[in-house]
Amino acid sequence: MFRASIRRMAPYTPGEQPRAGENLIKLNTNENPYPPSPKVRRAVNAAARATLRLYPPPRADGFVAAASRLYGIDPEMIVAGNGSDELLAMIFRAALGRGDSVAYPVPTYSLYDTLAEVQEAKVRRIPFGPEFKLPYEKLARARAALTIICNPNSPSGSFAPVGKLSALARALAGRLLVIDEAYVDFAADNALRLLSRHRNVIILRTLSKSFSLAGMRLGLCFANPEIAADLMKVKDSYNLNRIALAAGEAALKDHGWMRRNVDRVIETRETATRRLAAMGFMVAPSQSNFILARLPGRDLGNLARELRKAGILVRHFATALLRDALRISIGTPAEMRALYRALESLLMAGRARHSRRAMR
Ligand SMILES: Cc1ncc(COP(=O)(O)O)c(C=O)c1O
Repeated sequence: MFRASIRRMAPYTPGEQPRAGENLIKLNTNENPYPPSPKVRRAVNAAARATLRLYPPPRADGFVAAASRLYGIDPEMIVAGNGSDELLAMIFRAALGRGDSVAYPVPTYSLYDTLAEVQEAKVRRIPFGPEFKLPYEKLARARAALTIICNPNSPSGSFAPVGKLSALARALAGRLLVIDEAYVDFAADNALRLLSRHRNVIILRTLSKSFSLAGMRLGLCFANPEIAADLMKVKDSYNLNRIALAAGEAALKDHGWMRRNVDRVIETRETATRRLAAMGFMVAPSQSNFILARLPGRDLGNLARELRKAGILVRHFATALLRDALRISIGTPAEMRALYRALESLLMAGRARHSRRAMR
């Protein structure tokens, strides 16, 4: 009944969300461990009391105006989305027909694979270099209709220098380069300045991570006005509800609250990197709100399941490139201490089992 390609494809697998009443330490989907600004709650309450009878503004005017002021970008260069996932879906839909090519370095955000399959697009998955170096030349040579760089990248946390992205945008002139900056508030730089230099660059942001609003589903797309106007054509008219829009506007206006939470997460991230390295993990330096911890050559699926039994959710990807790694979102210091304790005891038990086996 649907296209054969849809019936054949595997669905995207989101990270586990605990059921109501389940008391788990949640370090698996890169949410912010701290709450959003109190101004968000007030704005949400006010929006719920005001008119819900009418459709929301289709261009998300108040939210877009707040983004325009905060980032210094004209409103006609901004498209608001129901999370950046919706913006990604719109971009894939608008850019790719059957057989068109999309390129991205791997491993990366696996939703790109799903969206490409829906479009029946041809995917050029180009492996990152050692230490997650951006395979810049191969991406440029692929000359795909759509190239995506997740920066900082998930799940590695690595950051490609903005100068490299600028060179890539130039090499791909006339073809779209999407820079998915979902985690960029946790990094030392960002690519917004490329918008005025390259007409083919699209930048995506989300309020799910740094602004602590994953539950509200708010994303932002920055692009030159012609690209933004074309994206509007594939957008559902009323893609953001009135309550989310009020929350988004209030969150952007309290940038200081977000920065303080981000600074706390960064401090905990640095401690976590040191603690996990001391336990024997290889931890790539991260510019995001998670770390990728590796035990090369091992399959860490079992360790993730044991942590789950101990009440801690982390993310394990059962793929060739990632099975020896856990992606761990940065929680509060107390949540992370619980993680260190659980990991230390599981690793110790594993070593004891190993040496008993060796002695037999
Ligand atoms: C790289 C990347 N892009 C986009 C998203 C989607 O974010 P949103 O919650 O805004 O849909 C995520 C969410 O985990 C992500 O990791």
